[in-house]
Amino acid sequence: MEPPSAPAHRGHGHWQRLLLAVSLLTFWNPPTTVQLTIESVPSKAAEGKDVILLVHNLPGRLVGFGWYKGDRVDSSQQIATYVIGRQVIIPGPVYSGRETIYPNGSLLFQNVTQKDTGYYTLRVIKTTLLTEVGMGQLRVYHSVAQPSIQASNTIVTEYKDAVVLTCLTRDAGISIQWFFNNQSLWLTERMKLSQDNSTLTIDPVRREDAGDYQCEVSNPVSSSKSDLITLAVSCE
Ligand SMILES: *[C@@H]1O[C@H](CO)[C@@H](O)[C@H](O)[C@H]1NC(C)=O
Ligand SMILES: *[C@@H]1O[C@H](CO)[C@@H](O)[C@H](O)[C@H]1NC(C)=O
Ligand SMILES: *[C@@H]1O[C@H](CO)[C@@H](O)[C@H](O)[C@H]1NC(C)=O
Ligand SMILES: *[C@@H]1O[C@H](CO)[C@@H](O)[C@H](O)[C@H]1NC(C)=O
Repeated sequence: MEPPSAPAHRGHGHWQRLLLAVSLLTFWNPPTTVQLTIESVPSKAAEGKDVILLVHNLPGRLVGFGWYKGDRVDSSQQIATYVIGRQVIIPGPVYSGRETIYPNGSLLFQNVTQKDTGYYTLRVIKTTLLTEVGMGQLRVYHSVAQPSIQASNTIVTEYKDAVVLTCLTRDAGISIQWFFNNQSLWLTERMKLSQDNSTLTIDPVRREDAGDYQCEVSNPVSSSKSDLITLAVSCE
């Protein structure tokens, strides 16, 4: 960055000092100040579980702190304020009764729901009345329900018939895997999965395809297998 040319009057020395001060403020992080960071534990939570937003590098000598829902300090979205001297929690407009603020700044959420997913902002107020702000994210996922499995036909003839197996689920944001005789399905050149893995086509079917099929849906916090469906393959 080129500094702007200093005006040629007696403010010259002052300008230089000011520029130096600005560049120090901008580019020099004193080793004693570390960034306030917020970590969600666990980073991905299942609905109904507890999640804590841990505060790292909380500065010393604080008056108190406030937690806000959202990615900024907005008093209408205040969850609660903690006053260190009095060790009291003052609930804010969006306090749900499931939140606990610890003296170290961390925020515990009990029994989270998907509605809790989002950003959370912490503002700390120091005894100097300067403030510092940090932001963290909470990700809550539902537990997937058991999928069901359907087959176009379960009694088929070798070399003649094709079979389409379908994994049915109402859950969104999931991935699907297939199992054959209780092992991960090994795809042969006669098998095709749809783009989202929800349908498995075997065309033509062969004797070695006879057995038990099952699908499994999973998301970052849970997984569930369908019941077994048995494919019988007869010879021509
Ligand atoms: C803050 O306190 C809570 C409750 O005692 C604890 O679980 C958590 O680990 C503490 N956070 C940090 C960052 O030490
Ligand atoms: C958790 O929240 C759900 C609804 O959000 C409620 O039905 C359930 O009773 C709560 N469980 C506990 C242990 O508070
Ligand atoms: C589809 O299945 C394959 C193999 O089982 C797996 O690696 C992949 O992640 C799955 N993709 C989706 C979108 O579920
Ligand atoms: C797969 O596991 C189920 C239950 O765990 C069992 O009933 C079934 O016989 C197994 N199938 C094979 C082919 O091993």
